[in-house]
Order: sequence, then structure tokens, then C-alpha cells
Amino acid sequence: MNLSGRNLISTLDLSPEEVRGLIDSARALKAGEKEARLAGRVAALVFFNPSVRTRISCESAMARYGGSAIAVQPGKDTWNFECGEGVVMDGNTQEHVRELAPVITRMCHFVGIRKSELITVGSAQGAATGSYDELAKDEFLHRFMEFAEVPVVNLESNRWHPMQSLADSTTIVERLGKPEKKKYVLTWTWHPKSLPVATPHSQLMSAVNLGMDVTVLRPEGYGLEPEVMRLARERVEALGGSLQETDDQEAAYKDADVVCAKAWGSLDYYGRFEQEAIDKAPLRDDWIVDEEKMAKTGDGIFLHCLPVRRNIVVTDGVLDGRHSAVKDEAENRLWTAAAVFDALAPK
Ligand code: CP
Repeated sequence: MNLSGRNLISTLDLSPEEVRGLIDSARALKAGEKEARLAGRVAALVFFNPSVRTRISCESAMARYGGSAIAVQPGKDTWNFECGEGVVMDGNTQEHVRELAPVITRMCHFVGIRKSELITVGSAQGAATGSYDELAKDEFLHRFMEFAEVPVVNLESNRWHPMQSLADSTTIVERLGKPEKKKYVLTWTWHPKSLPVATPHSQLMSAVNLGMDVTVLRPEGYGLEPEVMRLARERVEALGGSLQETDDQEAAYKDADVVCAKAWGSLDYYGRFEQEAIDKAPLRDDWIVDEEKMAKTGDGIFLHCLPVRRNIVVTDGVLDGRHSAVKDEAENRLWTAAAVFDALAPK
């Protein structure tokens, strides 16, 4: 798989054939059948938000194959960064992406960036106050990419989380063998916070790219971004799978091969999180993944990107039970990260 010099920002930056190539590469690395060519390579990882899996998988992937990674938290380990054009920098930001991007990229072979305005830290909702449309532009990430001289990898933005998508696709192939035309359900779950749509967008594509019959199960008002759904339909038509949206949980769970749970905030409520919490409260008891629902599946597997709130998003019984593939899914973050860096490296 050769993606030399490319950026990986959206799950749609990869063709279905390239996704398949990365899955094969990740599985070969996991089986010890090949080595990633990362010796002497350095990745800079810029984390504006907390992380366990993304940070450790990238650092571990680089270290295992003779490379290294430098993770930094802006404003803590570094200066505060600015990306606005023509900004008079007399506030809290000290360094502009016009210098930052070329400087980091002349020192490193890859740059990973996590910047999601909606990720919650502690008890406070993230810094997002504007509309979803504004945040979905992922301005910092795109501005950085504009001035970067090496591949830039999105480690989760407001709109996409492509590394999660690859780990999910790999886990589905591992567990199902041939996933084409098998039933994949991406179910919304209740959650006390309004979480970003980046992960469900990319999880949706993880199944679409494999030619699966995909159901997005969500209550009214919790549809994903319409343009993402349109792009997903375009791929579905080309690949021979299907895509539907419903709020009918009974029908969705019936005979499912994969149930992927994720909480996300309504796009209509961005910036009005307290109101959303009040309005979605009645959904709490009905929108959790439990044993009774999983029993309706065709002995389906359960996926969640983690971290997960036990007995809020999914019951202990499902998470600790035989349907759960969440540990494999998390482990596959490592092998897919290694496959991605290997593919992006100059040949
Ligand atoms: N799933 C995921 O991206 O996990 P982290 O937020 O811990 O990186």
C-alpha cells in the first residue's frame, strides 16, 4: 500500500480499495507477517484534546518499528497557536500556523493533529459555541495542512476520525470474514453530554467502505450531517451495499451482524447544550444497548470506539459479554496506525 506524501483528513480521502489495502496491511502487521518501514522516522502528534487510544496507538506504532513520536499539548507544552488570516496577535496566541506548520514538518516525517471543539474535559462542555457548519470547516487542521511540507493525519477533528474508521473496518473484517451485504447498525445512544459527530461519521464510512447493508438508528433530530449521508450514499451505490436511517430499534437490531454504539449531539443544538440535555432526557432509558436488544441480533458483534460510560451507553452485560469486540477494536488502532504511517512514508 503506497499513499506516499498524502494527507489523511477525512475517511473519504481513501478509496474503498485503499481502505482494503490498509486493512490487509494492518492484519499482516498484527500477524507478524511484515514490518512497517518506520525506522528513523519521527511523528509529531499535536493533541488539543485528551486521548488514550489515539495517542498510545500512534506512539506505540512508531516505537515498535524503530521510529519515534513526540506528543505535545498546545498551551501546556507549547505556545498557543493561531490560524486566522491577518490576525493582530495581541491576545493569547503566540505562534501562527504559517510558521508552525513548516517548522514542525521540517523536523518530522508526519504530523498528527487532534482538534475537536466539542470534546468535553472534566465536567465542562467543550469550547464550542458556534454553529456546526462553522466548526465542520476544521479550520486549524486545514490551515496547518496548507503550510505543511509532510503528510498530515487527522487524529479527530470536528467532522472526521479516520483512524477510528480504519480500526473499525479491520475489526469487522477480522470477525465477519466477508462483510459485504451483512447488516451493520450504527446506533445513537443517550449520553449526558453533547458529543462530536466526527466518530459516527467515520464509523458510518467504515461499514459503507466494506459494502455492508448499513442502518443509522437514531431518534428524530439526531441525523448525521446531510452532506456526509449524501457522500455515504454515493459510495454505497458504487459498492452495492445499502444505507437507511430509522428510529425503529426493534427492526434495526433484528438479525444485525454488527451493532456499533455511539452517542452524538444533535446538529440543531450546537452551542445550546444545556437545552439539548433537557430536551433529550426522556430518551435516556430507551436508548441504551442492553442484552435484550443484542439478543435480537444475528449473534452480532458489539463495537464502541471507547471511552464508554458503562450503564449509560451500554450495559455491563453487553460490554463484558460474548458479543463485545471493543478490546479487539481498540487494539486494532495500533495495527492500523502502523499501516497508515507505513503507507504515508516516502518510498
Ligand atoms: N477512540 C478514541 O479515539 O479514543 P481516544 O479518545 O482515547 O484517543
